[in-house]
Amino acid sequence: MWRTELPDIQPHYAVKANNDPQLLRWLSASGVGFDCASVREVGEATVAGADPRRDIIYAQPCKTVADLQRAAAAGVPATVVDSPEEVDKLRAARWSGDVLIRLLVPDAGSAQPFSRKFGAPLDWVPEIARALAAAGQRHTGWSFHVGSVCGDVSQYRCAIECAAAAAAMTGTTGTVDIGGGFIPGPEQFRAAAAAIRAAQPLFPRHTRWIAEPGRFFAAPAADAEVEVIGVKRRTTGPGQRVTLDESVYGIFSNILFDGQRPRFRLLAPDAPRRPTTPTTLFGRTCDSADCIVEDAPMPSLRVGDRLRVPAMGAYTVVSASDFNGFPQPARVYQRLPQLV
Ligand SMILES: Cc1ncc(COP(=O)(O)O)c(C=O)c1O
Repeated sequence: MWRTELPDIQPHYAVKANNDPQLLRWLSASGVGFDCASVREVGEATVAGADPRRDIIYAQPCKTVADLQRAAAAGVPATVVDSPEEVDKLRAARWSGDVLIRLLVPDAGSAQPFSRKFGAPLDWVPEIARALAAAGQRHTGWSFHVGSVCGDVSQYRCAIECAAAAAAMTGTTGTVDIGGGFIPGPEQFRAAAAAIRAAQPLFPRHTRWIAEPGRFFAAPAADAEVEVIGVKRRTTGPGQRVTLDESVYGIFSNILFDGQRPRFRLLAPDAPRRPTTPTTLFGRTCDSADCIVEDAPMPSLRVGDRLRVPAMGAYTVVSASDFNGFPQPARVYQRLPQLV
């Protein structure tokens, strides 16, 4: 879908969404590059087959000098800055790669906006560009992130307009990095891609376009399967309290950190005949905050039932802990025939 809709924009998968080694290998073998947030992720992408000098961008706006030096030693050719202060670190690290200025762009229509933390307003651009020149840095272009789960595709247009306005200030048109934020549904992705394609003529033909999609590749890559390990009545009123062999401290960390609402399907031959009852799903830790679903209608469940949870690939295993001594779930891999 990416290659069809955005054929001249090279995706650099945001490893932070899911650093599963097999997923990274498959993406690398498909010609996808990587956006790394840390030096460890640079190593993971490299082990998966990426050539750091060609395939990796270190698109973390806030880094330590030591990490910049390690990324440079690994051969990473490009990073981003969003403030003059961050330029000081490039100088201290003797960074010799390319530098993109990460711009502040509208992101209110996204589930996870980033502008509170990252991005340079347009009126900072001249100062950052001067600081880069004074530090002997090679400023080659622009990056932005419209926010994760971008529900308003006009934000991509606005962001590219913002990058074009910045480019008009400095004359820098080498690279535009359109970040991530893509929703992994065909309709939403096509709408976002159309908005991006329509805005690309704001830059000259020689401009190189890259992107940092995370969720788009990771979310549909994995379903979860969980087991019911406890069922009891409620203390008041009808309904069931169910405990699963997972947790919000585990793979359902996507509820707390990523605002996701996982959907559950009972895998049982008699599922259609089970009565529906008000249900609260808890996680397996000894913690009452470990609530996965609060008071939703679900089939009446029994210990040993298995539930399928689709599209659990993004921001799940990466933020899972082993709180209470529970390890991450086993992973089973299957490559779909049409993708081989
Ligand atoms: C710098 C950067 N690039 C890319 C991404 C991936 O975003 P998404 O998963 O919304 O595509 C993130 C997410 O946090 C990010 O911080």
